[in-house]
Amino acid sequence: MSKWVLIALGVALAAGFATWLVLTQWPAVEPVAPASAPAVAATPPAEVPTTGNAQAAAAPTSPEPKPAAPVRVTLSSVDGVISDGEYPHSVEIAGVKVYWVNDGRVLCIGLVSPGTGYVAIGLDPVERMLGANFVLGSVAEGVLTIRDDYGNAATGHDADTTLGGTDNLLSAAGHQWADQTVVEFVIPLNSGDSTDKQLVPGSSYPILVAYNALSDDFSARHSRRGTGRITLDPAP
Ligand code: HEM
Repeated sequence: MSKWVLIALGVALAAGFATWLVLTQWPAVEPVAPASAPAVAATPPAEVPTTGNAQAAAAPTSPEPKPAAPVRVTLSSVDGVISDGEYPHSVEIAGVKVYWVNDGRVLCIGLVSPGTGYVAIGLDPVERMLGANFVLGSVAEGVLTIRDDYGNAATGHDADTTLGGTDNLLSAAGHQWADQTVVEFVIPLNSGDSTDKQLVPGSSYPILVAYNALSDDFSARHSRRGTGRITLDPAP
């Protein structure tokens, strides 16, 4: 082999080595963010719920709308007007609508008769009208007359005050229209009066209901009367 051939081979080997060195050893060039690029705060990756509970936990935190609380009648709403939903309980007896609500202390009753005379209720009679705790109300010239009575005979009643007891009405109001009379009142569940009946929250009682179409006289016999039953709410 001639000297020139050996020189050519050496040059070729040197060129190849130099090319390999450039391709493999040259430092990598990182891209550089432009100096004007805005800084962005790192955002942690969104958590991916893995169970139904986790999904519920990730739900919006605003509270569920609560169902409207039932309207409780208070002494201040005894105003002679009975609006929709005012009382949680009602029943119609002998054409008279009877509304009621109680707590552990008092019973509020609303009566609506289709007449302009008195309207009355008797609570927990022993036999017919005997032993019932009556309340009779009438409205004349815009003025309510109301009385706490007691059934002192099978077909009779008289004022507690006449029978040695006391009138235990706590609050009352009435209103009259051309074709109906509204009487609302509040009595204690346990007045302690011998001419009243003790009423126990959660218990059920027979009731008497009557009205007179025209007369406000509490000693006038009823135009219509009937019997029914009410159940008191348990004490809250
Ligand atoms: C002074 C007024 C009253 C008189 C004179 C009177 C008279 C009578 C008479 C004679 C009876 C038996 C005949 C019948 O069944 O109709 C009777 C029954 C009855 N009365 Fe009276 N009443 C008076 C007030 C009331 C009141 C205020 C109520 C209710 C709040 C009432 C409720 C009833 C009921 C429900 C009966 C049927 C009882 C039964 O047979 O089980 N009464 N009343």
